[in-house]
Formats: sequence, structure tokens, C-alpha cells
Amino acid sequence: ADSIAEEGIDYLRGLPDITVDVKTGLSPDELDAIISRYAGLIVRSATKVPKGLIDRGTNLRVIGRAGSGLDSIDVEHAQQKGIIVLNVPQALSVSVAEHTMCLILALCRHTPQAHASIRAGGWEKGKFKGAELYKKTLGILGLGGIGQMVAARAQGFGMQVIGYDNAFYSESFEQVIRQADILTIHVPLTPQTRHMIGEHEIAMMKDGVRIINCARGGIIDEAALYRALVSGKVAGAALDVFEQEPPAGNPLLTLDNVVITPHIGASTKEAQVSVGMTIAKKVAGILLSTGTTESVARP
Ligand code: MLT
Repeated sequence: ADSIAEEGIDYLRGLPDITVDVKTGLSPDELDAIISRYAGLIVRSATKVPKGLIDRGTNLRVIGRAGSGLDSIDVEHAQQKGIIVLNVPQALSVSVAEHTMCLILALCRHTPQAHASIRAGGWEKGKFKGAELYKKTLGILGLGGIGQMVAARAQGFGMQVIGYDNAFYSESFEQVIRQADILTIHVPLTPQTRHMIGEHEIAMMKDGVRIINCARGGIIDEAALYRALVSGKVAGAALDVFEQEPPAGNPLLTLDNVVITPHIGASTKEAQVSVGMTIAKKVAGILLSTGTTESVARP
């Protein structure tokens, strides 16, 4: 129901017992009207899979999320109905980790602003004095696949890396947010992580902290972040994700100390081919009953 790499669609089309329809850009009503025809559904983040759609999908056996985040799918309801929900978080970890490094560097060196300035005829060498990463403390919230890859890459820049993850022993959440010069978020959006960075948490951070979010909008309270960016408490933020996407009218877009990209962390050729192929194989495995339930979605 959302576009995936051609390689994945070709793989599915090549299987004799599977018929594939590609119907992207459907409205929720249009998808509701046809879902009962299908045993499998593959989506990215644009197509939401709420309770009502799952209830109408009377023949559904598997929902494949061509990506990582499961916040757009009512996973609990699907699983109660015996529908397997699969995602492919590993397939895009490298790309998201690399985009995180890209945003950290862009934020610290004002790359987008310098690019815009020179294209507008300027040569403002003095205006774009940046900050080095070397010996700065990087705080990582969430030490899953992406968080760990960011840690390894940041160590290559000579950063001190500290991290928090509620799944295993780590620094405490408070230690990480208090000590970080740059804070980057790599947790899924769940009821527990919604607004995990808000006014109270920002007040605990170092003055002049920089914040990066390549995970999900909604983990940071955008109104609190906006106030802290205006006051200077937070020196800058780099955001690939927003509470509402696209973020039309979002006041964060008006600030000079914000670097933004349109949710492109996983948008590389390599990640998309890997995501498309991996989800196609996993979904086919379930539909052809050769799959195992080992690959049930994990946040
Ligand atoms: C994901 O969760 O897979 C990424 O944020 C990419 C996306 O949703 O398109």
C-alpha cells in the first residue's frame, strides 16, 4: 500500500503462489473497502493500520512494515486477531546512523545555512563559526541497533559517548541528559517515550546543548523545544522527524538554529533495496507458510 523497492515487488511477483497488487496513495476509506481481498499487507509509514482496518481485513494473515517504526500500526490488536506483524529494523540502521552523523555535523558547522548564504551571493566566513565534535560528550537515548552504530561512528570522531537504554544496564537517563553536549534520540515512539524530552528534562540539560532527533516526532515535546531554542538554553536542534508530518506551519521551521530534513533517515538506495527485499521475503515466508514467528515485530 506504500511504495517499496522494485526488487522486493519483483521478488514477490516471481513467486508462483502469490499475486501482488501495488496500490499506493489510497485514502483510508479506499483501503478499508478492499482490504478483505488480501492475505498480506505491506506498508511504510504513510499508510496507517488502525483497529478498524485490521477488523475489515478478515483474510489478513500478515502485515509487513517496510521499515522500523511500528507506531503507525495497531500491533496489539493485529496480534490479538492472530495476524503476524513484521518489521525490518536492521535493514535501515546504517542509513539512519549515518544520517544522524550528517545532522550532528550539519548542526555543529551550520552547513545548510552556509550553503544557503553562498548561493544567495554571500561569502560570510565569520558568520559560520562552528563547534568541533572532538572531546564533546555525545548522549545517546536508546542503544538498539541504530544507537549502537551512532556510538561507534561518534567514537571515530573522538567524542566521549554515554548512553541510556531501559532494556539493559547503562547510565541513568538523568545522567545522560545532564552530561551531554549533544543529545541524540534512538528510541521508538511508544506511550512511555512520548514527550520523554520536555520542559523538565530540557531544564536539566547543559546550557547550549544540541539535540538531534532522527527517530520519531512526538518523543520531543516540540513546544518545549521551541521555547528552549528561542531562549538559547538549547543552542540548536537537528530534526528529521516531526509530531505532524509534513510539518506545515510548525514554528520550529522558522528558527535559524534548527536544521531540518523531511524524514529521510532511511532514504538511501541501499537501505530501501534491503528493506524492500527483506520485507518481501518475510511476508512471502508467512504467506507460503515457510516463515517462522521468530521475526515477529520488535520495537
Ligand atoms: C522507519 O521507521 O522505518 C523509518 O522512520 C522510515 C519510515 O518510516 O519511512
